[in-house]
Amino acid sequence: MSAIETVHVPLGDRAYDVVIGHGLIASAGARIAPFLARPRVAVVTDETVGALHLAALQAGLAAAGVEMVALTLPPGESTKAWPQFTRTVEWLLEQKIERRDVVVAFGGGVIGDLVGFAAAVLRRGVRFVQIPTSLLAQVDSSVGGKTGINAPQGKNLIGAFHQPTLVLADTGVLTTLTTRDFLSGYGEVAKYGLLGDAAFFEQLERDGPAMAAGDNTARIAAVRRSVEMKAEIVVRDETEQGDRALLNLGHTFCHALEAATGYSDRLLHGEGVAIGCALAFELSARLGLCAQEDPSRVRAHLAEMGMKKDLADIPGDLPDADALIALMGQDKKVVDGKLRFILARGIGQAFVADDVDAHTLRGVLTDALRVVPHTA
Ligand code: GLY
Repeated sequence: MSAIETVHVPLGDRAYDVVIGHGLIASAGARIAPFLARPRVAVVTDETVGALHLAALQAGLAAAGVEMVALTLPPGESTKAWPQFTRTVEWLLEQKIERRDVVVAFGGGVIGDLVGFAAAVLRRGVRFVQIPTSLLAQVDSSVGGKTGINAPQGKNLIGAFHQPTLVLADTGVLTTLTTRDFLSGYGEVAKYGLLGDAAFFEQLERDGPAMAAGDNTARIAAVRRSVEMKAEIVVRDETEQGDRALLNLGHTFCHALEAATGYSDRLLHGEGVAIGCALAFELSARLGLCAQEDPSRVRAHLAEMGMKKDLADIPGDLPDADALIALMGQDKKVVDGKLRFILARGIGQAFVADDVDAHTLRGVLTDALRVVPHTA
């Protein structure tokens, strides 16, 4: 029987717990019931998660006498846009969800972001519980209150900060992820070690392969440390005026690569984060900020995990360095026309750099692109 870990996110009157453990869905009703004014919740999920886990959630709620109504949306990033958002809000109104009710987001990052935003605006804000079912959502998107949808102009451009009331990260559901989806989420796990905890990165170098192979104790430990680090940063800077940007280590590169690959199956978000972290360390090393060995160590760990680590690992053509930099220029994190990067003085020592030398950046990308096999 594995341990159940709780990470508290101390945000004053918006404080909440993130509970992490195997089999939490079975006790979801008992865990959510203290927040309910009446024993009924509205659950929003997607077709993939719904088919695998909705019956288990319904049973877990019913065990504590909690009824559920459910809306099942199509899976995939394209759901995170106005049409499904409007459908969700209107469905919640049809279900007569009131201010004192609780909405449950049951799925990966797309569902968590969309449902959190729906909860933020419904009747000027109702409470919501996150039950994240992907590794990426458990360690990143379900914690910290960023909610929203995509716009034609870019990802996550419409949204609100709205903290959940409770997060239930059931590591048991991670067993139903494909290896690729699990490893994509692991990109965000590795990011935490790289940005702020060298000892955690060492732990991942040791335990990462066992985690990928299904070791639940290692999974719980890694999810707990990731959530703890995220909570510490969010508590310091809830609305990203400063330190929260550290969570974007690897993300400026990632956003350009995701745009260049059309947000397609060629590159999953966490894969882009992993490659982006390797490039951020490469850039840091070339700027003389960290040891030359650090980027190699990052890549060695990603390779050991069987993950993408270089631009060469992305199938198909990529645009040239200038085009990638232009795609970075469209990133919403541009401040006064200058590119913001998260760089590092070593493993676990990331910092925000506001004005990165374009020549060095171009050099890093040009060299990284040189090893891309150009196939038609
Ligand atoms: N995913 C980055 C953040 O929550 O700030």
